[in-house]
Amino acid sequence: MPLRWTADLALGVNELDQQHQGLFLMVSALDEAIGAGRLDRVADTVRFVDRYAAEHFATEERYMRLHGYPALPEHRAAHLAFKARFLRHRRWFASQGVRPLLVVDLASSLITWLNDHVRTMDGELGRYLASVGLHRPAWVDLRPSPPASRDSLAARARPRPETAVEGTPLVPGSGKRSV
Ligand SMILES: [Fe+2]
Ligand SMILES: [Fe+2]
Repeated sequence: MPLRWTADLALGVNELDQQHQGLFLMVSALDEAIGAGRLDRVADTVRFVDRYAAEHFATEERYMRLHGYPALPEHRAAHLAFKARFLRHRRWFASQGVRPLLVVDLASSLITWLNDHVRTMDGELGRYLASVGLHRPAWVDLRPSPPASRDSLAARARPRPETAVEGTPLVPGSGKRSV
């Protein structure tokens, strides 16, 4: 499964979105190193991903605490599960060396986990943070609107057709309401 950060994964909190992009880049660098048979690069990349992920989780959990996120325990448990998996692989590397099968297994579990976690649990956190007004939701378009044309301004200035509001019939021919 290819690993690529896309705009639909944006939480709308710059700090978290930048960290996610960094994480996706690192994990895909690991995947590429494996694909290119550069196992010599793997150990360093793995160490880097490990450290970066720990920092990212701490940042995300700080946002959750600060903004009273109700699902913090479950979300933190998912982070801990990720760390535990990583630690297990690093121990295997330490005891058995950086073997191709172990590396492929680590990369594929990282890719699956990251894709799934960012899309679901982090996405839910993003929606919560938006609901407490922390940030602009990604779907709000803040680009300036195009300048209005003369026709559209004229249409706006034109009186709207007479429409009766329920219970206030129009007086025929006068354009005025009867009440
Ligand atoms: Fe998370
Ligand atoms: Fe995250």
